[in-house]
Amino acid sequence: MALQEVLRYLDDHQDDHLKQLCEFLKIKSISTQPEFRDDIRRAVDFLESELMNLGLHPEIIQTEGHPLVYAQSAQREGLPTLLFYGHYDVQPVDPVELWDSPPFEPSLKDGWIHARGASDDKGQMFSHIKAIEGFIRTGADLPVNIKLIFEGEEESGGKAIFAYTKEHSAKLACDMVVISDTHLYDEQTPAICTSLRGLCYMEVVVTGPAMDLHSGIFGGAVRNPADALCRILSQLKDEQGRVRIPGFYEDVIVVSEEIRNEMLQLGHSDDVLKGETGVGALFGESGYTSLERMWIRPTCDVNGIWSGYTGLGAKTVIPATASAKVSMRLVPNQDPERIASAFSAYVQDICPEGVSVAVHRLGCAKPVQLPRDSALVLAGKTALEKGFGHKAVFIGDGGSIPIVGTFQEYLHVPVLLLGYGLLTDNIHSPNERFKITHYYRGIRTTALLLGEVAGLVPLKILR
Ligand code: BES
Ligand code: MN
Ligand code: MN
Repeated sequence: MALQEVLRYLDDHQDDHLKQLCEFLKIKSISTQPEFRDDIRRAVDFLESELMNLGLHPEIIQTEGHPLVYAQSAQREGLPTLLFYGHYDVQPVDPVELWDSPPFEPSLKDGWIHARGASDDKGQMFSHIKAIEGFIRTGADLPVNIKLIFEGEEESGGKAIFAYTKEHSAKLACDMVVISDTHLYDEQTPAICTSLRGLCYMEVVVTGPAMDLHSGIFGGAVRNPADALCRILSQLKDEQGRVRIPGFYEDVIVVSEEIRNEMLQLGHSDDVLKGETGVGALFGESGYTSLERMWIRPTCDVNGIWSGYTGLGAKTVIPATASAKVSMRLVPNQDPERIASAFSAYVQDICPEGVSVAVHRLGCAKPVQLPRDSALVLAGKTALEKGFGHKAVFIGDGGSIPIVGTFQEYLHVPVLLLGYGLLTDNIHSPNERFKITHYYRGIRTTALLLGEVAGLVPLKILR
């Protein structure tokens, strides 16, 4: 049978696939820092030549931001169509001194590949390409129609893919979107993620005196902006971990008892979570478990804060300004635009006299809820179970993948989040890594997914 041959090809080519991933990981495609523009271009070239070699006629779509890479197989009538999405951009590497090996010199250690982007998302998205390669190189007809779209601005809040999806929804038409940019539940338990939190990312700037002032001469007579900022930030949440912005919880859907019970069955351990995060005690909204706090409840967190003199030794000043970055993770059906407005109004309202405050929106992403009963999603679950050799579970996730909501809205199909990473892959942190066996299993799972989805024809079962 053709699929067996494909799987054998994938087994036989593991070393090659690892070497090719290393080449991809050497490219410093950090999207948020302009000095890496050429590397972004190199990542696009790399993907273009990978797809070209497979005869998929890639298209490089120039945008106001970083290019999109699109490709599709010959579309055959009557076959289901899968649209694969991934992002080739990566996070910055700072603090680079905390890496055990240089972030863009992939190193293989004890069964892991260490490099920026290994798990988020180059290693995971590359597994899709390699699985498709298995079919093409063995001469097996692809059992489903394939479309692929890769973006280079996921990590930096770029808008290109949103505009493209809206304008070209007919071109991207499919029966399901497949994304590998999440993780297993744990080493033994593969998972399909069925909810992602949204995001509202804000910057708050408090301004006081016209310049930094001598804190002895003027101290006591003017409002200190750093002090005012602390007052504002301290009123964002109460001691029970509840967000105090008026209307913040208004649109939050109440998750069913059934789903909450299912979450309890996952056997989550708070002690493990303490170990993973290095905290002595956990903290969060009272009345909810840790998994609920991370997956189905919204949050508000200061992500960065700066003001005044922060160098060595003492410099006696009242700073002229103080700033903070604040992220709010949102859950269905909170609307990022509405939350951003509510945040701004509240911050203005509680700003103490004697200083002024400006609030800027730095980025928004919609929260999403994904289907778990679609035959297509269940095909994904079966593929995952066969590929990883263990029963799969449904999980939620606290992070955001901004394009998912737009895919749902404009393509009207299920989105399957088939994660091959681990929570402990250190994504966005120093020493990012990806377990090599999971890379291979991810490739295998993707190939199996094609087989499972093909098995669902006649197509009417899909819809
Ligand atoms: N792949 C992550 C999102 C993710 C991580 C989902 C872990 C589930 C589990 C994605 O690349 C990411 O980092 N998203 C950002 C979005 C932001 C930059 C708009 C996030 O969640 O912070
Ligand atoms: Mn990602
Ligand atoms: Mn990321």
